[in-house]
Amino acid sequence: MRVLTSVSIAAFALASVAVTSQPPAQKTLSEEHATVARTPPMGWNSWNYFHRNVTEQDVKAAADAMVANGMRDAGYVYVNIDDTWEGTRNAEGVLSTNSKFPDMKGLADYVHSKGLKLGIYSSPGPKTCAGFAGSYGHEKQDADLYASWGIDYLKYDLCSYRSIMQKEAPNDKPAQMHMMIAAYTKMDKALKATGRPIVFSLCQYGWDAVWEWAPSVGGNLWRTTGDIQPNWNRIYAILEQQAGLAKYAGPGHWNDPDMLEVGNGRLTLAENRSHFSMWAMLAAPLLAGNDLPNMKPEVLKILTNRDVIAIDQDPLGQQAKRAYADGEVEVWTRHLEHGALAIAVLNAGADRYASHPFHLDLARLGLHGPQKGKNLWSGKEVTLTNDMPIEIASHDILLVRIPSPK
Ligand code: GLA
Repeated sequence: MRVLTSVSIAAFALASVAVTSQPPAQKTLSEEHATVARTPPMGWNSWNYFHRNVTEQDVKAAADAMVANGMRDAGYVYVNIDDTWEGTRNAEGVLSTNSKFPDMKGLADYVHSKGLKLGIYSSPGPKTCAGFAGSYGHEKQDADLYASWGIDYLKYDLCSYRSIMQKEAPNDKPAQMHMMIAAYTKMDKALKATGRPIVFSLCQYGWDAVWEWAPSVGGNLWRTTGDIQPNWNRIYAILEQQAGLAKYAGPGHWNDPDMLEVGNGRLTLAENRSHFSMWAMLAAPLLAGNDLPNMKPEVLKILTNRDVIAIDQDPLGQQAKRAYADGEVEVWTRHLEHGALAIAVLNAGADRYASHPFHLDLARLGLHGPQKGKNLWSGKEVTLTNDMPIEIASHDILLVRIPSPK
């Protein structure tokens, strides 16, 4: 990404924009779920890289890496085991782990000893999406088990509960939705009854306008779409589905456009940067999904860009809105605390805006006159002027924080 020279760029690596690390506002006890996810949860999840193959060793190695590589200090907290840890139920219905996870309590203790938290996965159905035991009919038992292990986060994935819905209310969509809401409510109550603060992550692929009802069933976050994949088309398709959802997010309850693919597949550095930037603009949970012990330094640099993380974690919790799009160049803005503003200009298309640079229309962002800020990927001070030509490589992004917009 390069901003053309009609723009005044002062090469101040240490720009005036400070990373905001305000203490969270006072907790209100009545907003119980806000206490565990006042800002979007940050951490790592096993699925996007390991899929079904994840083992206890992989989870420990991820936790070790997060401490050693600075991710923990940059704000990543949760180490989340996704599907395929589950074993079988005994005669009393108590679930065991399978041989890949011989000692879940020990693993939780290990993760906690590193200053991190442990997350787990289940389904309201009898089977998880990968065909392992779900919590159907055992919600309370499972919630108690998680709490006894020291689990801090539950991703609850609809999966086979769909067949129960279809069986009990054939072709009756409103009744099915009612059942689904009841199933999520049931687990929320079971989690709360344990007395342990546990982040509750809804995963039902964005059906039935989940953003409208998820907070009322205790959801701290809810998936807004089907599964992400490590390729630009899928990431961009998910991004497109987030426009219009900003009003549903806020402290304690977040839209979840799915876990990060940064560092996975064949994503280019520009794509990794854009994906990470846009998820931060969206106030999305930042759950890395790559092979942490073996990632490239340039990928780590993206994941630990503190200026970008500060956008995601901004205490106001106001998700970005798409201000406008000119073809495949999109301009998104996000209001931040102390009246600051983040602006993202994304070239989602395959073309380079070189011979015909993009011209930023500040008036469409409600801004008047030159705007001084910081380019969060170059670290340099930048002044945005009206109609300024901006050259953005294909799939790359300009991300600017303006402390005092005019
Ligand atoms: C679903 C979810 C994924 C992952 C898998 C595990 O597809 O959407 O994020 O949890 O199940 O089986």
